[in-house]
Amino acid sequence: MSTTAAPPALYGGKTNRRVSVRDILQAKERQERWPMLTAYDALTARVFDEAGIPVLLVGDSAAMVVYGYDSTLPVTVDDLLPLTAAVSRATRRALVVADLPFGSYQGSPGQALDAASRFMKEGHAQAVKLEGGHRVAAHVEALVGAGVPVMGHIGLTPQSVNTLGGYRVQGRGEEAGAALLADAKELERAGAFSVVLECVPSELAARVTEQLSIPTIGIGAGPRTDAQVLVWQDMAGLSPHVAKFVKAYADLNETLSTAARTFADEVVQGSFPDADHSYN
Ligand code: KIV
Repeated sequence: MSTTAAPPALYGGKTNRRVSVRDILQAKERQERWPMLTAYDALTARVFDEAGIPVLLVGDSAAMVVYGYDSTLPVTVDDLLPLTAAVSRATRRALVVADLPFGSYQGSPGQALDAASRFMKEGHAQAVKLEGGHRVAAHVEALVGAGVPVMGHIGLTPQSVNTLGGYRVQGRGEEAGAALLADAKELERAGAFSVVLECVPSELAARVTEQLSIPTIGIGAGPRTDAQVLVWQDMAGLSPHVAKFVKAYADLNETLSTAARTFADEVVQGSFPDADHSYN
């Protein structure tokens, strides 16, 4: 009798190697749900990796949560590369996905390959993400053909905030829903290994998830996607303003504020540093 070991679960399964895009596709076949978080620095990336989060995205949301811009548009490849390299260095198991920032890939498949190559060579990412459906299908094909795994991103695509007219739910109504489903299928056909669905009605996200053989990753897309992603500062209660779809699992804002005030009070009172925190 032959026994074949079941593949380890993406979340909670033990492996001594990095999660691969093959693992991600196999999880879809098993109908396994999995979590994804953003990460932008070594210490938090290590925490999330050790917590077993199988996929970490160095998102262009860094523009807002790291660099303090009010949209994702200003951030550049040179801004995101050191963050990607830090996340890659600090992790052992998670698949590290680098977001291609606005203006670094839309021009042509060749431009996309140049940007992606830098994230793979200098940032040591194992995959890249880009925004758009049929309009980037040729770009996805070129990247996949060159050996770069691609995560798609449709629905609310923040890099297009100026053409979308704001951060609003996408795919509402029959026509818009059909267009979004067609975009998802086009990304799958072009070779993407997964697709983020941002801010779309739950029913539509469920329909896309049923009709694709690659995993869907929801953010504001309801409960029936294969995976869920959140920006880590939103997930941990550090971001001051969050969208309706965000659930905060901690109150880091309060925790950090209390720590900073307690430190400041002790410095002012002269009780820090005490003997335990001083050298003889
Ligand atoms: O940049 C980012 O953080 C993202 C996620 C929200 C999917 O694109």
